[in-house]
Amino acid sequence: MQKINFPKDFTWGVATAAYQIEGAWNEDGKAPSIWDTFTHTPGRIAHNENADISVDHYHRYKEDVALMKELGLDAYRFSIAWSRVLPNGTGTINKAGLDFYDRLVDELLRNKIEPYVCLYHYDLPQALQDKGGWPNRDTAYAFADYARIVTEHLSDRVKVWLTHNEPWVTAAAGYFDGSHAPGIKDPVATFRAMHHLLLSHGLAAEAIRASAKGPVKVGITLNLNPVHPATDSKKDQAAALRMDTMLNRSMLDPLLKGTTPIQEFAAGRLLSGSLIKPGDLEKIHTLDLLGVNYYTRTVAKNDPKFPVVAASQVQPQGNEYSGMWEIYPEGLHELLLRIWKDYQPACEIMVTENGVPVPDGLDFDGRVRDERRIRYLKDHIYQVHRAIQDGVPVKGYFHWTMMDNFEWSLGYGPRFGFVYVDYETLKRTVKDSGRWFAGLIVDNGFEY
Ligand code: FCB
Repeated sequence: MQKINFPKDFTWGVATAAYQIEGAWNEDGKAPSIWDTFTHTPGRIAHNENADISVDHYHRYKEDVALMKELGLDAYRFSIAWSRVLPNGTGTINKAGLDFYDRLVDELLRNKIEPYVCLYHYDLPQALQDKGGWPNRDTAYAFADYARIVTEHLSDRVKVWLTHNEPWVTAAAGYFDGSHAPGIKDPVATFRAMHHLLLSHGLAAEAIRASAKGPVKVGITLNLNPVHPATDSKKDQAAALRMDTMLNRSMLDPLLKGTTPIQEFAAGRLLSGSLIKPGDLEKIHTLDLLGVNYYTRTVAKNDPKFPVVAASQVQPQGNEYSGMWEIYPEGLHELLLRIWKDYQPACEIMVTENGVPVPDGLDFDGRVRDERRIRYLKDHIYQVHRAIQDGVPVKGYFHWTMMDNFEWSLGYGPRFGFVYVDYETLKRTVKDSGRWFAGLIVDNGFEY
């Protein structure tokens, strides 16, 4: 056992997303997002569940912030529901929607918790989907305008702005495999969505900086996985490289280098001329903060039948699985070092999501003994520490997530929270892992 100590100014936080926790799906002038439409379509979500009410954070935010305070969190990363603020995606502002985020930010600051605002976590206003969604370039301009409106409203108090959460997932799950809203399966639409999401980051960054009332940091948060070949064969090694280009470089290269690797794919080559306009890549290439969301690695094999990448994922034997993914803590160290070595980013780096689903339940005495999550966190946070020791200046770590919530297409099955939620009564109970994290924050480290 050794004591792992983190740098003095290290930020410890948790992350959530509007659709997953807020509920109040049609209250106070909020219009539907693509997730409202998607979850209200039978057959899309496990058990046909939806987040109409979810954990009712919209009404219970004070209780939730009080719990964050109890855990001693430095920061809270949450997202804003675009269709609460602009029911049509553009045009008329719904003041009651903005007021909710006002109250939330004030409550956080009263409790000395730094708000990290994410402008987009999968929930496009349905009105903009009706005009073509992310494959339509206009959506990027609408996003920048929405970013401006929220910045004008909150930047007297909010300093850290994340444009997107996992734009790769927005494009791939929304438009390629259709497992997320809007449930489309079209490789061309996927490439178009990917580019417009990135472009919207650049346009929004400009808008945020131009309208901010004080100094701000503009970042983005990406899902990134180290990719390993399934075997040593040349074909699998090449497949792993293609998969890495698709999963990681498609986002990292534009944001950190101002280049794009999409020409490496036939569909991308065909499109890139008409899709990527002069000046787009320069606009996208801007970042004060890179957020890394890490859950697992990808092991890839050559698979000519698989569209676009001709590679598919295999489930390696030997490691533990969480029910959703392989548990592979070393991958976080590998990933952080790779970002540092390949890109030498001038921006800050933080882990903006990491966590594990555990089938938690209340014990006879009302406690939730989620030892497995504590073990997962120790193993992963240790890898963050190793990366810092190896020279990567990681500035913070955000756990996914604060309280159990609606896990997209899997509904309420997976529980990721520090806080157990009884979905009948909505009663919150801090789990053992939450208490453990609170201790880690007090000590700024832990025994490993
Ligand atoms: C991430 C998402 C987050 C949650 C976790 C488990 O990819 O950003 O909303 O679904 O996975």
